[in-house]
Amino acid sequence: MTPLPDSIARSWQLIALSHEVRAKPVPRTVANTPVVIFRGTNGRITALLDRCPHRNFPLSDGRIENGGLVCPYHGWRFGPDGACAEVPGCELTPGDDARFAASPIAVLERNGGIFVRLEPGQDDLPDLGVWGDADHDHFWWAQGVWRGRALDAIENVLDAFHTNYIHDGIIRRSGRRMSVKLSTNVFEQGIEQVIEQPVPDMGWMSRMLEPPRDRSRTRLYAPTTVQARWEGPRGLTLCVSAFFTPVDAGSLRPFARFTTPKGRGPAWLKEAAIRLFLNPVVAQDRRALARQLDGIEAFGGPRFIQGPGDLLGARVTQLYQGQTLEPGVEGPFERTL
Ligand code: FES
Ligand SMILES: [Fe+2]
Repeated sequence: MTPLPDSIARSWQLIALSHEVRAKPVPRTVANTPVVIFRGTNGRITALLDRCPHRNFPLSDGRIENGGLVCPYHGWRFGPDGACAEVPGCELTPGDDARFAASPIAVLERNGGIFVRLEPGQDDLPDLGVWGDADHDHFWWAQGVWRGRALDAIENVLDAFHTNYIHDGIIRRSGRRMSVKLSTNVFEQGIEQVIEQPVPDMGWMSRMLEPPRDRSRTRLYAPTTVQARWEGPRGLTLCVSAFFTPVDAGSLRPFARFTTPKGRGPAWLKEAAIRLFLNPVVAQDRRALARQLDGIEAFGGPRFIQGPGDLLGARVTQLYQGQTLEPGVEGPFERTL
Protein backbone atom coordinates (compact mmCIF):
# COMPACT_ATOMS: atom_id res chain seq x y z
CA MET A 1 0.00 0.00 0.00
CA THR A 2 1.06 3.58 -0.57
CA PRO A 3 2.43 4.98 2.71
CA LEU A 4 1.13 8.25 4.10
CA PRO A 5 2.94 11.33 2.79
CA ASP A 6 5.03 13.50 5.17
CA SER A 7 2.54 16.34 4.66
CA ILE A 8 0.20 14.63 7.13
CA ALA A 9 2.66 14.74 10.02
CA ARG A 10 3.56 18.34 9.18
CA SER A 11 -0.01 19.67 9.22
CA TRP A 12 -2.64 20.09 11.94
CA GLN A 13 -4.82 17.01 12.18
CA LEU A 14 -8.08 16.87 14.09
CA ILE A 15 -7.92 13.92 16.49
CA ALA A 16 -10.73 14.48 18.97
CA LEU A 17 -13.56 16.79 19.88
CA SER A 18 -13.13 18.88 23.03
CA HIS A 19 -16.03 17.21 24.81
CA GLU A 20 -14.47 13.77 24.30
CA VAL A 21 -11.49 14.67 26.49
CA ARG A 22 -12.54 15.06 30.10
CA ALA A 23 -11.33 13.24 33.21
CA LYS A 24 -9.51 10.42 31.45
CA PRO A 25 -6.63 10.31 29.00
CA VAL A 26 -7.76 9.56 25.43
CA PRO A 27 -5.69 7.39 23.07
CA ARG A 28 -5.74 8.22 19.36
CA THR A 29 -3.60 7.23 16.40
CA VAL A 30 -2.72 9.73 13.73
CA ALA A 31 -0.44 8.91 10.80
CA ASN A 32 0.59 5.60 12.43
CA THR A 33 1.62 7.41 15.61
CA PRO A 34 -0.10 6.59 18.92
CA VAL A 35 -0.88 9.80 20.78
CA VAL A 36 -2.45 10.37 24.19
CA ILE A 37 -4.36 13.54 24.99
CA PHE A 38 -5.48 14.69 28.41
CA ARG A 39 -6.55 17.74 30.33
CA GLY A 40 -4.20 18.82 33.08
CA THR A 41 -4.22 21.86 35.36
CA ASN A 42 -6.88 24.47 34.42
CA GLY A 43 -8.29 22.14 31.78
CA ARG A 44 -5.35 22.82 29.49
CA ILE A 45 -5.00 20.15 26.84
CA THR A 46 -1.73 18.24 26.47
CA ALA A 47 -0.75 15.75 23.77
CA LEU A 48 2.11 13.27 24.23
CA LEU A 49 3.43 10.29 22.35
CA ASP A 50 1.51 7.41 23.89
CA ARG A 51 4.70 5.85 25.22
CA CYS A 52 6.12 6.23 28.68
CA PRO A 53 9.79 7.25 28.37
CA HIS A 54 10.67 4.87 31.23
CA ARG A 55 9.70 1.39 30.01
CA ASN A 56 7.44 2.38 27.08
CA PHE A 57 4.13 1.47 28.71
CA PRO A 58 1.14 3.12 26.93
CA LEU A 59 0.49 6.28 28.92
CA SER A 60 -3.15 6.25 27.88
CA ASP A 61 -3.67 3.36 30.33
CA GLY A 62 -2.85 5.82 33.11
CA ARG A 63 -4.93 8.29 35.09
CA ILE A 64 -4.97 12.01 35.72
CA GLU A 65 -3.66 13.10 39.13
CA ASN A 66 -2.49 16.49 40.41
CA GLY A 67 -2.88 17.98 36.94
CA GLY A 68 -0.61 15.37 35.35
CA LEU A 69 -0.79 11.98 33.68
CA VAL A 70 0.37 9.06 35.84
CA CYS A 71 1.84 6.00 34.12
CA PRO A 72 0.31 2.83 35.55
CA TYR A 73 3.55 0.82 35.54
CA HIS A 74 5.77 2.68 38.07
CA GLY A 75 3.71 5.78 38.69
CA TRP A 76 5.85 8.39 36.98
CA ARG A 77 3.78 11.55 36.60
CA PHE A 78 4.03 13.84 33.58
CA GLY A 79 2.92 17.47 33.63
CA PRO A 80 1.34 19.63 30.93
CA ASP A 81 4.42 19.87 28.71
CA GLY A 82 5.41 16.25 29.28
CA ALA A 83 7.87 17.23 32.02
CA CYS A 84 8.38 14.52 34.61
CA ALA A 85 6.93 15.83 37.88
CA GLU A 86 7.28 12.75 40.06
CA VAL A 87 9.06 9.39 40.26
CA PRO A 88 7.43 7.61 43.20
CA GLY A 89 9.89 6.42 45.84
CA CYS A 90 12.67 8.67 44.58
CA GLU A 91 13.77 12.30 44.97
CA LEU A 92 14.04 14.28 41.75
CA THR A 93 17.06 16.52 41.36
CA PRO A 94 17.14 19.68 39.20
CA GLY A 95 17.02 18.83 35.50
CA ASP A 96 15.30 15.47 36.06
CA ASP A 97 11.98 16.92 34.88
CA ALA A 98 13.42 17.38 31.38
CA ARG A 99 15.64 14.30 31.48
CA PHE A 100 12.74 11.99 32.28
CA ALA A 101 10.13 13.85 30.20
CA ALA A 102 7.56 12.24 27.95
CA SER A 103 7.56 13.40 24.31
CA PRO A 104 5.19 16.36 23.83
CA ILE A 105 3.27 16.88 20.61
CA ALA A 106 2.09 20.27 19.36
CA VAL A 107 -1.60 20.64 20.11
CA LEU A 108 -4.26 23.30 19.71
CA GLU A 109 -7.91 23.48 20.57
CA ARG A 110 -10.18 25.46 18.25
CA ASN A 111 -13.98 25.70 17.97
CA GLY A 112 -14.47 22.50 19.95
CA GLY A 113 -11.87 20.47 18.07
CA ILE A 114 -8.45 19.24 19.24
CA PHE A 115 -5.72 19.29 16.59
CA VAL A 116 -2.20 17.88 16.77
CA ARG A 117 0.82 18.34 14.57
CA LEU A 118 3.41 15.59 14.80
CA GLU A 119 6.27 17.42 13.08
CA PRO A 120 7.12 21.12 12.64
CA GLY A 121 5.36 22.56 9.58
CA GLN A 122 2.02 24.31 9.10
CA ASP A 123 1.87 27.34 11.47
CA ASP A 124 -1.84 27.42 12.07
CA LEU A 125 -5.08 25.96 10.75
CA PRO A 126 -6.23 27.34 7.40
CA ASP A 127 -8.71 30.22 7.70
CA LEU A 128 -12.04 28.41 7.38
CA GLY A 129 -14.14 31.57 7.78
CA VAL A 130 -17.63 31.02 9.09
CA TRP A 131 -16.94 27.76 10.96
CA GLY A 132 -16.21 29.64 14.21
CA ASP A 133 -18.65 32.47 13.70
CA ALA A 134 -20.78 33.34 16.78
CA ASP A 135 -23.78 34.48 14.73
CA HIS A 136 -24.19 31.06 13.13
CA ASP A 137 -25.33 27.74 14.58
CA HIS A 138 -22.79 24.92 14.64
CA PHE A 139 -22.52 21.32 15.62
CA TRP A 140 -19.87 18.63 15.32
CA TRP A 141 -20.30 15.13 13.99
CA ALA A 142 -17.51 12.64 14.85
CA GLN A 143 -17.52 9.49 12.77
CA GLY A 144 -15.13 7.12 14.56
CA VAL A 145 -12.62 5.17 12.49
CA TRP A 146 -13.45 4.18 8.91
CA ARG A 147 -11.74 1.68 6.69
CA GLY A 148 -10.49 3.51 3.62
CA ARG A 149 -7.84 5.93 2.49
CA ALA A 150 -8.10 9.54 3.67
CA LEU A 151 -7.16 10.68 0.15
CA ASP A 152 -10.10 8.81 -1.35
CA ALA A 153 -12.46 10.28 1.26
CA ILE A 154 -11.25 13.77 0.34
CA GLU A 155 -11.77 13.10 -3.34
CA ASN A 156 -15.21 11.64 -2.62
CA VAL A 157 -16.39 14.90 -1.05
CA LEU A 158 -14.95 17.00 -3.86
CA ASP A 159 -16.45 14.81 -6.58
CA ALA A 160 -20.07 15.45 -7.56
CA PHE A 161 -20.41 12.64 -10.11
CA HIS A 162 -20.58 9.84 -7.54
CA THR A 163 -23.67 11.40 -5.97
CA ASN A 164 -25.88 10.29 -8.89
CA TYR A 165 -24.88 6.69 -8.24
CA ILE A 166 -23.76 6.03 -4.67
CA HIS A 167 -26.49 8.37 -3.39
CA ASP A 168 -28.99 7.65 -6.19
CA GLY A 169 -32.39 9.02 -5.24
CA ILE A 170 -31.26 10.67 -2.02
CA ILE A 171 -29.01 13.47 -3.25
CA ARG A 172 -29.03 13.24 -7.05
CA ARG A 173 -30.49 10.69 -9.42
CA SER A 174 -28.87 8.40 -11.95
CA GLY A 175 -31.89 8.48 -14.26
CA ARG A 176 -32.68 12.17 -14.18
CA ARG A 177 -29.97 14.75 -14.53
CA MET A 178 -29.79 18.52 -14.91
CA SER A 179 -27.41 20.80 -16.73
CA VAL A 180 -24.83 22.43 -14.50
CA LYS A 181 -21.81 24.66 -14.96
CA LEU A 182 -18.64 23.47 -13.31
CA SER A 183 -15.67 25.69 -12.68
CA THR A 184 -12.45 25.19 -10.78
CA ASN A 185 -10.55 27.70 -8.69
CA VAL A 186 -6.97 26.72 -8.06
CA PHE A 187 -5.01 28.11 -5.12
CA GLU A 188 -1.43 27.58 -4.10
CA GLN A 189 -2.51 25.24 -1.30
CA GLY A 190 -6.02 24.32 -2.30
CA ILE A 191 -8.51 23.69 -5.04
CA GLU A 192 -12.21 24.48 -5.28
CA GLN A 193 -14.96 23.01 -7.42
CA VAL A 194 -17.91 25.35 -8.02
CA ILE A 195 -21.20 23.97 -9.31
CA GLU A 196 -23.73 26.49 -10.63
CA GLN A 197 -27.17 25.02 -10.98
CA PRO A 198 -30.64 26.54 -11.33
CA VAL A 199 -32.40 24.44 -8.66
CA PRO A 200 -31.50 22.04 -5.81
CA ASP A 201 -30.42 18.48 -6.67
CA MET A 202 -32.96 15.96 -7.97
CA GLY A 203 -32.86 13.56 -5.00
CA TRP A 204 -35.63 13.56 -2.40
CA MET A 205 -33.48 14.90 0.42
CA SER A 206 -32.48 18.01 -1.47
CA ARG A 207 -36.04 18.47 -2.73
CA MET A 208 -37.51 18.24 0.76
CA LEU A 209 -34.98 20.08 2.87
CA GLU A 210 -33.00 22.49 0.83
CA PRO A 211 -33.74 26.20 0.44
CA PRO A 212 -33.26 27.66 -3.06
CA ARG A 213 -29.78 27.07 -4.39
CA ASP A 214 -27.63 29.00 -6.86
CA ARG A 215 -24.37 27.19 -6.39
CA SER A 216 -22.27 24.97 -4.22
CA ARG A 217 -18.54 25.24 -3.63
CA THR A 218 -16.32 22.52 -2.30
CA ARG A 219 -12.75 23.45 -1.45
CA LEU A 220 -9.78 21.41 -0.34
CA TYR A 221 -7.47 23.10 2.12
CA ALA A 222 -4.34 21.00 1.80
CA PRO A 223 -3.69 18.44 2.88
CA THR A 224 -6.84 17.02 4.54
CA THR A 225 -9.54 19.64 5.22
CA VAL A 226 -12.50 20.12 2.89
CA GLN A 227 -15.17 22.76 3.23
CA ALA A 228 -18.43 22.58 1.29
CA ARG A 229 -20.71 25.61 1.09
CA TRP A 230 -24.18 25.86 -0.37
CA GLU A 231 -25.31 29.31 -1.45
CA GLY A 232 -28.75 30.60 -2.39
CA PRO A 233 -30.04 34.00 -3.49
CA ARG A 234 -29.77 35.20 0.11
CA GLY A 235 -26.29 33.88 0.75
CA LEU A 236 -24.94 30.88 2.63
CA THR A 237 -27.48 28.20 3.55
CA LEU A 238 -25.17 25.44 4.80
CA CYS A 239 -21.45 25.03 5.37
CA VAL A 240 -19.77 21.73 6.20
CA SER A 241 -16.15 21.77 7.34
CA ALA A 242 -14.82 18.23 7.10
CA PHE A 243 -11.55 16.92 8.51
CA PHE A 244 -10.17 13.63 7.22
CA THR A 245 -7.52 12.53 9.68
CA PRO A 246 -5.41 9.63 8.42
CA VAL A 247 -5.01 6.97 11.10
CA ASP A 248 -2.81 4.83 8.88
CA ALA A 249 -2.57 4.04 5.17
CA GLY A 250 -5.88 2.15 5.18
CA SER A 251 -8.04 3.92 7.76
CA LEU A 252 -9.13 7.39 8.68
CA ARG A 253 -11.06 9.27 11.32
CA PRO A 254 -13.48 11.75 9.73
CA PHE A 255 -15.09 14.68 11.54
CA ALA A 256 -17.52 17.29 10.24
CA ARG A 257 -18.67 20.60 11.63
CA PHE A 258 -22.01 21.83 10.32
CA THR A 259 -22.69 25.55 10.18
CA THR A 260 -26.00 27.21 9.33
CA PRO A 261 -27.16 30.83 9.54
CA LYS A 262 -29.13 31.51 12.70
CA GLY A 263 -32.85 32.06 12.32
CA ARG A 264 -34.14 29.24 10.15
CA GLY A 265 -35.48 27.05 12.95
CA PRO A 266 -33.92 26.27 16.33
CA ALA A 267 -30.36 24.90 16.33
CA TRP A 268 -31.35 21.56 17.90
CA LEU A 269 -33.98 20.94 15.25
CA LYS A 270 -31.59 21.70 12.41
CA GLU A 271 -29.03 19.39 13.98
CA ALA A 272 -31.55 16.58 14.42
CA ALA A 273 -32.80 16.93 10.84
CA ILE A 274 -29.31 17.04 9.31
CA ARG A 275 -28.18 13.99 11.32
CA LEU A 276 -31.31 12.04 10.47
CA PHE A 277 -31.23 12.74 6.75
CA LEU A 278 -27.49 12.56 6.26
CA ASN A 279 -27.06 9.30 8.16
CA PRO A 280 -27.84 7.06 5.17
CA VAL A 281 -25.68 9.23 2.89
CA VAL A 282 -22.72 8.96 5.26
CA ALA A 283 -23.22 5.20 5.51
CA GLN A 284 -23.18 4.93 1.70
CA ASP A 285 -19.91 6.85 1.44
CA ARG A 286 -18.40 4.82 4.26
CA ARG A 287 -19.23 1.56 2.51
CA ALA A 288 -17.97 2.93 -0.82
CA LEU A 289 -14.58 3.89 0.64
CA ALA A 290 -14.13 0.45 2.20
CA ARG A 291 -15.01 -1.27 -1.08
CA GLN A 292 -12.75 1.06 -3.02
CA LEU A 293 -9.87 0.06 -0.74
CA ASP A 294 -10.76 -3.61 -1.29
CA GLY A 295 -10.33 -2.96 -5.01
CA ILE A 296 -7.06 -1.10 -4.52
CA GLU A 297 -5.59 -3.71 -2.18
CA ALA A 298 -6.57 -6.65 -4.39
CA PHE A 299 -4.15 -5.31 -7.00
CA GLY A 300 -1.41 -4.13 -4.64
CA GLY A 301 -1.99 -0.38 -4.94
CA PRO A 302 -4.01 2.34 -6.70
CA ARG A 303 -3.93 2.75 -10.49
CA PHE A 304 -6.43 5.50 -11.32
CA ILE A 305 -7.28 7.10 -14.64
CA GLN A 306 -8.76 10.56 -14.94
CA GLY A 307 -12.14 10.74 -16.68
CA PRO A 308 -13.97 13.68 -18.29
CA GLY A 309 -15.74 14.44 -15.01
CA ASP A 310 -12.54 14.53 -12.98
CA LEU A 311 -11.89 18.21 -13.48
CA LEU A 312 -9.63 18.41 -10.44
CA GLY A 313 -7.62 15.52 -11.78
CA ALA A 314 -4.41 14.52 -10.03
CA ARG A 315 -4.20 17.87 -8.26
CA VAL A 316 -6.06 16.57 -5.21
CA THR A 317 -3.33 13.97 -4.78
CA GLN A 318 -0.60 16.57 -5.30
CA LEU A 319 -2.06 18.83 -2.62
CA TYR A 320 -2.51 15.90 -0.25
CA GLN A 321 1.16 15.09 -0.73
CA GLY A 322 2.21 18.64 0.17
CA GLN A 323 2.89 20.00 -3.31
CA THR A 324 1.74 23.52 -4.26
CA LEU A 325 -0.22 24.53 -7.36
CA GLU A 326 -0.20 27.41 -9.81
CA PRO A 327 -3.26 29.55 -8.93
CA GLY A 328 -5.87 30.04 -11.67
CA VAL A 329 -9.49 29.78 -12.72
CA GLU A 330 -10.84 27.15 -15.12
CA GLY A 331 -14.23 26.83 -16.74
CA PRO A 332 -17.15 27.04 -16.69
CA PHE A 333 -17.66 23.62 -18.27
CA GLU A 334 -21.09 22.19 -19.08
CA ARG A 335 -21.93 18.82 -17.60
CA THR A 336 -25.08 17.11 -16.38
CA LEU A 337 -25.49 15.98 -12.79
S1 FES B 1 6.93 2.41 32.33
FE1 FES B 1 5.95 4.21 32.87
S2 FES B 1 6.58 4.57 34.87
FE2 FES B 1 7.72 2.86 34.28
FE1 LIG C 1 -20.85 10.99 -1.07
